[in-house]
Amino acid sequence: MYRMFVDLNGIRMAYSDTGTGSPVALLVHGFPLNRSMWDPQIGRLRAAGLRVIAPDLRGFGASESGPPGPLTMEQHADDLAALLTQLSIGEPVMYVGLSMGGYVGFAFWRKHAALVRALVLLDTRASPDTPQAQADRHRLAAEVEAVGTAQPVIDTMLPRLFSPHLPARSRVAQQVLGMMKGTSLRGVADGERGLAARPSSFSTLATISVPTLVMVGEYDALTPPEDSEAIAAGVADAKLVRIEEAGHMSNMENPEAVNDALVDWLRRRV
Ligand code: MLT
Repeated sequence: MYRMFVDLNGIRMAYSDTGTGSPVALLVHGFPLNRSMWDPQIGRLRAAGLRVIAPDLRGFGASESGPPGPLTMEQHADDLAALLTQLSIGEPVMYVGLSMGGYVGFAFWRKHAALVRALVLLDTRASPDTPQAQADRHRLAAEVEAVGTAQPVIDTMLPRLFSPHLPARSRVAQQVLGMMKGTSLRGVADGERGLAARPSSFSTLATISVPTLVMVGEYDALTPPEDSEAIAAGVADAKLVRIEEAGHMSNMENPEAVNDALVDWLRRRV
């Protein structure tokens, strides 16, 4: 089955849905990106027998933003739950999220735990923003609106996104840049405001009762390996995998390592 758009919670959401098997994997992208960041995983997961659903969160990719205001992790989580309902997914899913997709994953667990069979958290963190980081995000959001492009956010994030060994003009870097440039102004500006508003998820960790795989690029400068170590230490049934030769975009920088770890863990634990 393959469909492109669905109406939910007042917006039209874009997504891909391929494969027919079980479990169902729900792949949730980072900021300010879209579902195409998961291209290196989708075929491999389908080949492993899964049904794979990859949405564009509201404000990102081809999904509508809805009314102005911060794009919160809780709203994204509710949109994902509505998507699963619309698609008549009758079983709990393996939730896979990178960075912001991980923050949304914590909100999804808090609000919709019954829909979750397993969690895969890549290059993310349980901590909220410091007051300084919140102020920086609000300043960036205002700058984005003032100049009318995502450039201020791109300039801030790009130098810290990849392994220092990834060539600057590599295909992966070009692809990520293309995603960032293609994101709507609403997605970038109100996305930053939503990220600034996210709560701490540390108290959530001890409540997670499903198998959890935590992965992090060894050179991740945005959410460094210590952040993933803290998540794995707080979740009862967690496995931590460090991805070599990768930075924050581990699933794109070293897809073979991420796919191998994911499929291996899936076979044993899910
Ligand atoms: C992401 O990759 O989703 C962002 O780096 C998240 C963030 O800015 O905290």
